[in-house]
Amino acid sequence: MPSVDICFSPELLPLYQLEGKVAVVVDILRATSSIVTALAAGVTHIVPFSELEDCQALAAQGYLTAAERDGRQAAGFDLGNSPFGYLDGVLPVQGRGVAITTTNGTRALHLSLAADAVVIGAFLNLEAVAEFARQQNKDVVVVCAGWKGMFNLEDTVFGGALAERLAATFDTSSSDATLAALHLWQQAKPGLAGYLLQSAHVRRLNSLEANKDFDYCVQVDTHRIVPIWRDGRLVVNS
Ligand code: MLT
Repeated sequence: MPSVDICFSPELLPLYQLEGKVAVVVDILRATSSIVTALAAGVTHIVPFSELEDCQALAAQGYLTAAERDGRQAAGFDLGNSPFGYLDGVLPVQGRGVAITTTNGTRALHLSLAADAVVIGAFLNLEAVAEFARQQNKDVVVVCAGWKGMFNLEDTVFGGALAERLAATFDTSSSDATLAALHLWQQAKPGLAGYLLQSAHVRRLNSLEANKDFDYCVQVDTHRIVPIWRDGRLVVNS
């Protein structure tokens, strides 16, 4: 029976073996929620970068550029990291490619590329990711982006939610990390938004007046797509 494990921070990834497994990269607030939203809104593909300069260079090739540092849109970029940047119609996004860089999410993605399949998870597409994992029938590692190498609540709670969805056909009891995430998810489940209000990044976002983004990112199963890493870019799995 394949297993589900949770890596609480990209800093812990060297301790995990990703070869032969499915990596589910998660940064609920807000990178992976925004990636799901962008691809669902008609963005053709997303190229993630670690550095601002490398990201901005793709503007010359016709890409929309999106950049966040410390929760704010970086100067000189078309978009920040709000999912509403892909929904509010200010910039037409349909049919465009997006070059993106964020504080934690893009780093977690780059560090996960040794896995057999790398997909993007969010509460928005929880069941779609669970279905993908069931079809692959391989061990799953949820890679939490955290915050600057530290543990965070929202990504871990997502790991617990995914483990619960997979529990019938995956081993979810052999890893203490998965057990801890499942326990947190049981606490959070009856009122996810209220529970995650305690998170440090929610306080950071609220101080940046991004409460609307928080309410959006804690919606569950609103999207059926799975963004997947293919040939150096994120596209919708088909
Ligand atoms: C990140 O990648 O660090 C984030 O998603 C932070 C944010 O934009 O809220």
